[in-house]
Amino acid sequence: MSMQVKRRADYQPPAFLISSVELTIHLHPQSTRVHSVLKIQRNGNHDQELVLDGEQLNLLELSIDGQTITNYEVTDSALVIPSVSNEFTLTTVCTISPADNKALEGLYLSNGVYCTQCEAEGFRRITYFIDRPDVLATYQVTLHGERKTLPTLLSNGNPVDEGINADGTHWVKWVDPHPKPSYLFAIVAGEFDVLKDEYITLNGKRVALELYVDKGKRDRGQFALDSLKRAMAWDEQEYGLEYDLDIYMVVAVDFFNMGAMENKGLNIFNSKFVLANPETATDEDFFNVESVIAHEYFHNWTGNRVTCRDWFQLSLKEGLTVFRDQQFSADMTSPLSNRIKHVRVIREHQFAEDASAMSHPIRPDEVIEMNNFYTVTVYDKGAEVIRMLHTLLGKERFRAGMDEYFNRYDGQAVTCDDFLSAMQTATDLDLAHFSRWYSQSGTPEITVSQKVSADKTWVTISQYTPPTADQQDKSELFIPLGFSCIDLNGRHYQDCEQKVLEGVLILDQPETTLTFDNGGQELIPVMLAGFSAPVRIKQGLSSEALLATFLYAQDDFNRWDALQQLYDWCITQYEINQSVEDKIWEGLRDALESEKNNYELLSECLVIPSFETLCQTRTNIHVETLHAAREQFAREFITKLENELKDVYHSIQLDSYQYNQQDVIARRCKNVVLGHLARLTQHEDLVKEHFNQSDNMTDSLGALKAAQHGHRELFKTLMETYGEQWKNDPLVLDKWFSLHATTERADILSHLTLLQSHPQFSIDNPNRVRALIGSFAFYNTSGFHALDGSGYQYLTDYLLKLDDCNPQVAARLVTPLTQWQRFDQHHQEQMRRQLARLLEHDGLSSDVFEKVSKSLA
Ligand code: ARG
Ligand code: ZN
Repeated sequence: MSMQVKRRADYQPPAFLISSVELTIHLHPQSTRVHSVLKIQRNGNHDQELVLDGEQLNLLELSIDGQTITNYEVTDSALVIPSVSNEFTLTTVCTISPADNKALEGLYLSNGVYCTQCEAEGFRRITYFIDRPDVLATYQVTLHGERKTLPTLLSNGNPVDEGINADGTHWVKWVDPHPKPSYLFAIVAGEFDVLKDEYITLNGKRVALELYVDKGKRDRGQFALDSLKRAMAWDEQEYGLEYDLDIYMVVAVDFFNMGAMENKGLNIFNSKFVLANPETATDEDFFNVESVIAHEYFHNWTGNRVTCRDWFQLSLKEGLTVFRDQQFSADMTSPLSNRIKHVRVIREHQFAEDASAMSHPIRPDEVIEMNNFYTVTVYDKGAEVIRMLHTLLGKERFRAGMDEYFNRYDGQAVTCDDFLSAMQTATDLDLAHFSRWYSQSGTPEITVSQKVSADKTWVTISQYTPPTADQQDKSELFIPLGFSCIDLNGRHYQDCEQKVLEGVLILDQPETTLTFDNGGQELIPVMLAGFSAPVRIKQGLSSEALLATFLYAQDDFNRWDALQQLYDWCITQYEINQSVEDKIWEGLRDALESEKNNYELLSECLVIPSFETLCQTRTNIHVETLHAAREQFAREFITKLENELKDVYHSIQLDSYQYNQQDVIARRCKNVVLGHLARLTQHEDLVKEHFNQSDNMTDSLGALKAAQHGHRELFKTLMETYGEQWKNDPLVLDKWFSLHATTERADILSHLTLLQSHPQFSIDNPNRVRALIGSFAFYNTSGFHALDGSGYQYLTDYLLKLDDCNPQVAARLVTPLTQWQRFDQHHQEQMRRQLARLLEHDGLSSDVFEKVSKSLA
């Protein structure tokens, strides 16, 4: 394992290229045999040695052009052959042990199913290779396995031949004609239920669709398959992009480190993002299935056809593909709730990453363990950067730029600069300044001030990006800022020089001033319509101004955001032991009343900012005080609004479950309202009834979550019923684990320990670990941040065990500890103490090492 820092600036083209790969794989749990034939060419004029990546491989044979060789060296991470000719065929035979692979990188066994995860650097655990994304080869793969236990044998591309061996085993041969980097390689072998369908492309090409799920789970696969067809049609419609093989396969597996993987023609998915029916999946699960299915499908063009030159360019494919899946989801569901969902991710997680020792630009400069850079910054802030381009260029020019991107770079491994240069051809705007978003980390802060004279008002808007752990010096960015101005009565004003065009102000200087001919009065600047840029607005509007913004602003995101700011302001009052005046509650009541039939906006507005979101507007956080203030606000909220919310609850009547937008929105509103009502003892029966009458997972879970905040005994009873009902269904049980882990109770740690011995819990399964340990560390505020440090210690003890089997997941779960900077000194010390314990651990993985050492530096 290497603790070495790799730098973007050090990029060198590969010394050798590999044009074709022929793999013959005999599957066996402890001793899978991988026979590999590589056609290799020297790249350029040099006499460097051949270095192939390889980890945890047992090399049995090695020959060049048919001749066994002895002049080579094998290390922990490489096979080095000092002298080779300019063009040759290299044959290796290795064995590997999928059954012992608990890290879930390379080839591993998931509940008896063989599957692979090669991104970013997993292929080197299957065979010796130049395992980097700028080495593109065609693949021919023959899989051999037992007929009885492994009737299905899959790889990338098209199946071309199959047969039975003398020993009774069988084989299937696959050919993928599209040259691809090794990270897109995949195989799957096992026994499945399969759903088959067909898609006819824009140009009339027939594509076979096959979705593989665990035996007995066929009825949970239809929605994913339908989502895939919607995604295929959407990409043709919106981007003119068509699928390019005869077959597209999706396989659901239970053991998976991340969400899913876009392997060419053979996507492998965490079963959580495939399996869904109304009894077992919530509306949110359905949404996620559709969006992840689309994400992986969209990668076929943004990722596979045009791929990354090196891993520092990861956002080239991820930021762009997340943006595309967000557009798709908005089209399939509704733009507002989608936008708010993404804003929450940015504010809760990405801003927190910027503020931590792990801060990095969307195109990182330094990496120790690549797996640590599949982050909210690279993915979600990356998507925001693409969205800004879309805003700046407009829909048509953006599309023209994308067309140019594919025309130029199809079949190549390229950089973020290449992407920008293609986009540049579609616009007069000079993108040089804009490109700084790729190299600068941190969250820009926007501030506003006003000067009022007898007849005019000047509004000055400034930007400032504070230093981050990775980067001291910042310069101004090119920011498209959604902007409008209103007054307390709801009148709208246009600035005299028309710097604001179509609701957008370009902020490309440290500050800019707008002049308003408005007879000289205080204005309310409404900033960041649609969350037009990933920035923090520091505005400090009064409660009256926030209520006016809600009532009169044009943009629904702004309206929602105004109430979120108002809630934040109220919570601050409680933090400093002040009260919130009745006139504010009245204003709030009127505001909510005015939208009582708009369930979509209403339900978003009824969500109180999470503890994590509140952390973003505070420093030196005293956890107990903030947590208590938030609780107090939640209680006051329902006390003051009980009658109105009761009415809303009863006004929503739904027939039997259907996943469609209107119902999803209504159901969401009803469950959010129930969550509030449940804080009052008099509504216990309502919660019980909601649970008992539910015919779907959304409402069942809604009732459980509501009970979690109000009724200890009821919660306990309902959880017992639910736990018993779903004890054999791990995916459903994950929701139950997570509810347990986020419950506020004095004995939470012993309770977690007990749950770890639940028959369905296993440290080897990332979904279980995330549901129980992850939920606790990320979302159990009072338990995790217990004053005596016991929550931190508990997580650390667990991570020490987990790191030994699955470093990737361990490195994810260490995140809450590495965000110690935002808390007060007492908590900081306790958190750092546990980080130090991790760092001292013998044999710590490079994954956890990178994050912990940065965090303590
Ligand atoms: N490319 C995949 C996606 O975005 C993520 C896979 C990353 N896996 C990993 N182990 N780093 O859908
Ligand atoms: Zn992706």
